[in-house]
Amino acid sequence: MKQWVVVISSFLAACNAGTWNGVGERPAMGWNDWNSFGCEVSEDLVLGSAKKIVDLGLKELGYEYVVLDDCWSKGRGSDGTLQPDLDKFPNGMKHVADKIHDMGLKYGMYSSAGTQTCGGYEGSLDHEEEDAKTFAEWGVDYLKYDNCHNQGLTRSPKLSYDRFKSMSDALNKTGRPIYYALCNWGEDLVWDWAQDIANAWRISGDIGDVFNKYFVHCPCDGNENRYCTKTGFQCSVMNIMDKAAYTEFRGSLKGSGWNDLDMLEVGNGKMSDEAYKTHFSMWAILKSNFLLGNDIRNMTEDTFSIITNPAIIALNQDMNAAATRVWYYGDTTDSIGLWVGTSSNGDQLMALVNGGNEPRKMNATLEDVLFYVSSEVEESARKTAFDIYDLWGNRMDNSTAEAILSGDADDDFKAKHLYNATETSYKDGLKKNDPKLLGKKIGSVEPMGTITADVPAQGIAIYRLKPQSGKSEL
Ligand code: GAL
Repeated sequence: MKQWVVVISSFLAACNAGTWNGVGERPAMGWNDWNSFGCEVSEDLVLGSAKKIVDLGLKELGYEYVVLDDCWSKGRGSDGTLQPDLDKFPNGMKHVADKIHDMGLKYGMYSSAGTQTCGGYEGSLDHEEEDAKTFAEWGVDYLKYDNCHNQGLTRSPKLSYDRFKSMSDALNKTGRPIYYALCNWGEDLVWDWAQDIANAWRISGDIGDVFNKYFVHCPCDGNENRYCTKTGFQCSVMNIMDKAAYTEFRGSLKGSGWNDLDMLEVGNGKMSDEAYKTHFSMWAILKSNFLLGNDIRNMTEDTFSIITNPAIIALNQDMNAAATRVWYYGDTTDSIGLWVGTSSNGDQLMALVNGGNEPRKMNATLEDVLFYVSSEVEESARKTAFDIYDLWGNRMDNSTAEAILSGDADDDFKAKHLYNATETSYKDGLKKNDPKLLGKKIGSVEPMGTITADVPAQGIAIYRLKPQSGKSEL
């Protein structure tokens, strides 16, 4: 087992140098309108949200892709090209892309590997080359490519692969670097074959704004039947995490792609604050595609202080591979679990997740936390004491969030309170132990000791463990 980990880590290191299409070195960060707005899309919504990303300092945090989802089109023109709905986008799509680029951001759009999109609009099946060309001409930097109306070209990895590869090839042919986000809801073992053709791939049916409730619409329990083909919708955070436990390793396997656990629901109002923290933290540590899904023109302080926590975002953008679940008890509606991973600077990362509706005292032994460290460092790891940093320990307070959200804060104030990843990447910031990325030191643990935490209902204790200097060769 340990030997495997060494072989695979070296493989990952060797492959991280670049991706198959030159983009997607890290999971995409940004925003997508679907979770909040469905088909109610417009130029005002897209450009207004992009402006907010800039004004609130979210761009510097790394949120760079502004993605327009379904329901933007009005069929094909007489020349066969996709046409935007001019009631929603009166100036057309190139105008939207240009404006977004002027703001220093990137522009994403949506189509389906079917005859129609899920909303019943024109799809791109058998029109891949002309549509890819249209997207490239408009200045699109990201394509979400869905699975509806696929004419039965599914239920076999080969059929799905070929169908999604057609668009991948077509995008490549345009010569424009376009992040390709494949969205077949986790069908046909997509995580086994998408690394060569996509930058990210959805691993489940649609997320709902729900933490651990079972919904009949999302029939696959993430634990019981990973290969269940009823992908569904209204999937809970815990359901998707359970699915990710079986596929996390595929993300980043070839250094060129990421599991997509679906857009974030943080701030959409139906989950508790603790649940949103858990959701945000886990999507980060699992290196999911990382797109906000709330109305960012209209956010509460609580939401803002979650989505701007740099100690958490750093996990998503820094780690070479997603976290792994070491142990788990329960089911999707009530569980406890321990997830572990490694930061690029060698720190250990751990998350104790309380998937139930009552607070719990939880603990993790270092034996478990270090379960996946490579055999090369295992011996020294066993002799190492660690300082423990709580990654939510320095969460922004509400008055700071309020000052920024109200527009009263000047640039100095924002620079003081927000991390600037465009200036110093998360990886470099961690190398320098930037305090904004470390969280708050809450104690230490002796070699092979046990870490305990009071974890709120639906909550998470997520820690960075720093080997104590002078005591370790880790
Ligand atoms: C679904 C997809 C959603 C959203 C929707 C649009 O298939 O999973 O994320 O894009 O279609 O109709």
